[in-house]
Amino acid sequence: MKIISIVGARPNFMKIAPLHRAFTAHPDIESLIVHTGQHYDEKMSDIFFNQLELPKPDYYLGIGGGSHTHQKANVMLAFEKIVNDEKPDVVLVVGDVNATAACSIVAVKMGIPTVHVESGLRSGDRKMPEEVNRIITDAICQHLFITEHSGLVNLAKEGVPDEKVHFVGNVMIDSLVYFRQKASKDNILESIEVSPKEYILMTMHRPHNVDYEKGLRDIIQIIRDAASRKKVVFAIHPRTTNNMKKFGLYEELENIENLTLLGPQGYLQFLKLMDNAALIITDSGGIQEETTFLQVPCMTFRDTTERPVTVELGTNFLMQDLNPITVKIQMDKILNGEAKQGVIPPLWDGKAAERIAEIIVKELK
Ligand code: UD1
Repeated sequence: MKIISIVGARPNFMKIAPLHRAFTAHPDIESLIVHTGQHYDEKMSDIFFNQLELPKPDYYLGIGGGSHTHQKANVMLAFEKIVNDEKPDVVLVVGDVNATAACSIVAVKMGIPTVHVESGLRSGDRKMPEEVNRIITDAICQHLFITEHSGLVNLAKEGVPDEKVHFVGNVMIDSLVYFRQKASKDNILESIEVSPKEYILMTMHRPHNVDYEKGLRDIIQIIRDAASRKKVVFAIHPRTTNNMKKFGLYEELENIENLTLLGPQGYLQFLKLMDNAALIITDSGGIQEETTFLQVPCMTFRDTTERPVTVELGTNFLMQDLNPITVKIQMDKILNGEAKQGVIPPLWDGKAAERIAEIIVKELK
């Protein structure tokens, strides 16, 4: 059984790594990787292949950035040729980035059984490009692998038959479990001179937070408040750096006292930073799950989450009011010891990829 797995952007790499490992170990599966090239920098892409022990992709489409239509249309044209040449038995897509929706449309239209890993998540906010990608992908794929109970509810509401849906756990947590020990030996904390539990870690990259001056100014205010309590380490995404510069705010950011500004980090370095943080402030999807697993408090700078289990069972707090004053109140509570401990959600045990491999072989061979 030949399976082509798709990666496009940074959050895909840690999801594909355990799947590729499980597929390679399975006697009935041949595993190929196609990288669409949405993320192309050494720090947004190559470093993850090295650290996650992934082989060089079998195909690199080199599509790069641009508008979402540009990205998707070019991915679709390039991927169609690969499907024609390789004639895979299964195409596998993960998550909710542009490559996920684009490649699933191509494969399904060409009659190839297509499966979606990390299916069923819904924020209810269709202004998020990822939400549209999730809905499109789930509507057309043959098998849907879900990470948390809300996925069952969402897909049932959308009329998806039960036999297509498989509750298998979380492949991103598979990577975390597999690499946590190795990450613990990294020297990132020494190199930026911070001590365990003595710093606040931050990431921010959602268009609705960082594409407008007001959002960027709010972020600067939040960093100032955080930095008055503890050291702040900000692993800044290229989109955010570009926009800080565009709005003339980068110098102000750089000059905040008690702030260490880092570029995008490797997987192992970021895992070590998360594992040892006192608190994480983010608008990421995946970090909400990783902090829940690590039982590190997380404040998510968003109105809604597609990952409600991280709030219901985990350590995540949603900042529904994205106002720096409310954020400060919540931050002070957490730093004063009012964080919740949280529990690890069902099936987040490091074995999701193996379950997925077994189900694909059973259902689609
Ligand atoms: C994409 C995903 C988002 C995911 C995020 C993680 C979609 C719709 N969005 O958003 O779900 O959370 O990745 O990072 O697929 N850039 C570089 N180098 C790179 C890649 C990008 O400098 O290797 C810069 C470019 O200037 C680009 C900007 O980052 O314009 C944004 O990149 P883009 O891929 O458009 O979207 P993300 O915001 O990264």
